[in-house]
Amino acid sequence: MALAALVAAVTASAHTGVQNDDVLERMEGMSAIAKEMKTIGEMAKNEAPFDSDAVESALSTIGAEAERIPYLFTPRAMDPKSEATPAIWEDFDDFTTKADTLGAVAEALSGHVSTASDLVPLMREIGQTCRACHSQYRVSN
Ligand code: HEC
Repeated sequence: MALAALVAAVTASAHTGVQNDDVLERMEGMSAIAKEMKTIGEMAKNEAPFDSDAVESALSTIGAEAERIPYLFTPRAMDPKSEATPAIWEDFDDFTTKADTLGAVAEALSGHVSTASDLVPLMREIGQTCRACHSQYRVSN
């Protein structure tokens, strides 16, 4: 997948009109992750100047947000606007493992980015962990 398509696929948000607070909170957590991916993605595409501090800060936020995923999804909350599938709560261990993988990948990449060209493989590596979870646990409606 082209980088631009990858960024678009993982960062699209749809939380306007959500009524359930738990659902809203977890969507906001996802949006925070997506925002950091967008920051890195813009640098990867040379639309923004490379800034290793900003990359480190983005990775650290992604890692912290990944840690919150199991907590944010513990309530089995639903909302007409939610894209979460019930499968999350049928195999919550697998779901949290996928959250842990995202956190571990973000942590492992931290400190290893020195030029803008490092960002393309980084985006792919992180993007894979987003998709691994979304493909099973997020519907696009
Ligand atoms: C452990 C599973 C998991 C991982 C890992 C994960 N997501 Fe999600 N994501 C979800 C689920 C489930 C939803 C749907 C939540 C809902 O609508 O209730 C979602 C929704 C989203 C949304 C839509 C939020 C909204 O406002 O509706 C965005 C954007 C998003 N994820 C981005 C990402 C990005 C970027 C990554 C990787 C850096 C990522 N996600 C990693 C499970 C995950």
